[in-house]
Amino acid sequence: MFENEDPAKRAAGYAAVERFVRDGMCVGLGTGSTAYWAIERVGARIAAGERITAVPTSSETETLCRKLAIPLAQLLEHPMQVAIDGADEVAPDWSLIKGGGGALFREKAVALACERYIVIVTEPKLVPALGRFPLPLEVVPFAAPYVRREFAQRFGNVEVVRRGTELQPFVTDNGNWIFDAHFGRIDDPPALDAALREIHGVVASGLFYGMVDEVLVGEANGTARSLAITPRTTRSR
Ligand code: 5RP
Repeated sequence: MFENEDPAKRAAGYAAVERFVRDGMCVGLGTGSTAYWAIERVGARIAAGERITAVPTSSETETLCRKLAIPLAQLLEHPMQVAIDGADEVAPDWSLIKGGGGALFREKAVALACERYIVIVTEPKLVPALGRFPLPLEVVPFAAPYVRREFAQRFGNVEVVRRGTELQPFVTDNGNWIFDAHFGRIDDPPALDAALREIHGVVASGLFYGMVDEVLVGEANGTARSLAITPRTTRSR
């Protein structure tokens, strides 16, 4: 899993763990090739004797945690002081697109439940506005035809593609499908998220806003910098 070392991703993941994770904490652990490095670092800290527990955001992360002997906890089984996750896009106001790995529902649950939410990315993820990356929607399969009809009525000719193949759709850890919606530039993430979730059958969108406490950008030279926020939306917590 993610054996191809990317020094910038590793720098972001390691920096997040060093700066925000303390012995005794319960930590939310994200999904993907950047979060991998944070997970790996948490594993190393546990191997060195620290008592950290983790809430994994996907079965993929759960498998990795088990491999690294990281003790697991259910969501809010303990207070979760921090969560660390990657992102597909980060806007200047720290709104995000997530779900490239299909784990958006659990990732959002962890982001909402934790006390501090730390996002780890590399430079190409920083965008002036969200939307170049297709927006993932988690959709209940039974309702999928209705979601398609409503989506077309509300969003006209915005292209929406079910992830996977015709015969083998991508199935999330919750037994749902992912629809990737090609909106292009998204100017108002909270309004779009609300409009999407109004459609019965859309369980979650990959739009995250007002949740992030810190964005760390990993650099190829092995360092990581904090990204300054340009306020726009009201922070929800
Ligand atoms: C998974 C995610 C990931 O955080 C996102 O796709 C970024 O992944 P990577 O660090 O591999 O680019 O949202 O659902």
